[in-house]
Amino acid sequence: MRKFFKALLVIIIIIVIAAGAFALYVSQRSIPKYPVQKINIKAEVTPERIAQGQKLASMLCHSCHYNENTGEFTGRELTDAPQFGKIYSANITHDSIVGIGNWSDGDIIYFIRTGIKPDGQYVPPYMPKLTHISDEDLNSIIAFLRSDNSWVKANTTHMPESKPSFLTNFLVTIGAAKPFDYPTHPIPGPDTGNKVEWGKYIALYQMECYSCHSKSFAKNNYYEPEKSPGFFGGGNEMYNIDGKEIHSLNITMDKNTGIGNWTEADFIKAVTTGILPNNQPALRDPMHPYVNLSDDEVSAIYAYLQTVPAVNNKVERKF
Ligand code: HEC
Ligand code: HEC
Repeated sequence: MRKFFKALLVIIIIIVIAAGAFALYVSQRSIPKYPVQKINIKAEVTPERIAQGQKLASMLCHSCHYNENTGEFTGRELTDAPQFGKIYSANITHDSIVGIGNWSDGDIIYFIRTGIKPDGQYVPPYMPKLTHISDEDLNSIIAFLRSDNSWVKANTTHMPESKPSFLTNFLVTIGAAKPFDYPTHPIPGPDTGNKVEWGKYIALYQMECYSCHSKSFAKNNYYEPEKSPGFFGGGNEMYNIDGKEIHSLNITMDKNTGIGNWTEADFIKAVTTGILPNNQPALRDPMHPYVNLSDDEVSAIYAYLQTVPAVNNKVERKF
């Protein structure tokens, strides 16, 4: 018996030492680099694309890259993602030293789809990747980034290096956070004549509403969004700009716990203005009103949500 306990003790000591060594290894490790594929694309710039790109950037990039002090996309500290470390979004203005003035269109496209920068550096999930957005929408974002819009004009404000947390290093070390594959086929835009398909495109591939509105960021299926656990059933824990925990809400058509009793007009008003039916308190950060989505686009999302299976999941609104 004594022998058995001795052996057990030795095993426990080995496990503790191994765990300690692994923890040390993880904390010393930096975010890995990956091979880069050169993409030869020159996004043609048209006024329509610049306008569409600005609209998309105002909803998809502004919240993280816009800096109130400079009035430009010079980056800021992301205080709303403390679990990932001390993270700074980058300067993505035209400046060729601290910004992305020297990146080719292909460099930007490859990075936005996969998360790999031209030097091979991988950016973990604190910068979301647009794996499924259409080629046309992505080209529009490029056209906007190249435009003379005041948000992106060359600015030399330098952002400090991000300091990823132990959690981030752990996730990249075990491969739970890794780059997305670059798409092997062209990605067409949706058929806007088909409302359900159009709404699906916006909710899953363009604005990615599902990523916040399903069960958890960690469990989402980013390749096949519809397979995400608790798809649109809410309850995903996130932090607002003050670092307070807040939960996404159930936006399936469940009548008791979702928005099954809302009219289409209620939905359009809530999504575009943040004002809820019954004059409840307005929607709070990080659910920014999508002021730049047209009523037709939000109506298409509503039509699509009618086809999503209702989930019975009561989420209490916090504070
Ligand atoms: C949730 C926050 C967030 C959003 C939204 C976001 N980014 Fe980022 N982005 C980051 C962070 C954080 C980094 C820097 C990561 C690092 O290297 O530490 C970054 C880095 C970048 C870089 C690399 C710049 C460089 O010099 O290393 C580019 C380019 C970029 N983002 C473009 C975009 C575009 C375009 C959009 C909108 C389509 C966007 N980002 C949306 C957080 C965000
Ligand atoms: C960054 C994460 C995030 C994204 C992206 C997001 N939401 Fe939300 N949403 C939230 C959070 C958090 C709440 C709860 C806000 C609150 O409690 O004030 C919310 C609330 C809502 C509500 C209110 C539901 C209710 O019962 O009151 C609706 C409707 C909604 N979102 C629709 C959408 C649509 C449509 C999209 C995409 C166009 C979207 N959301 C994208 C985080 C997000």
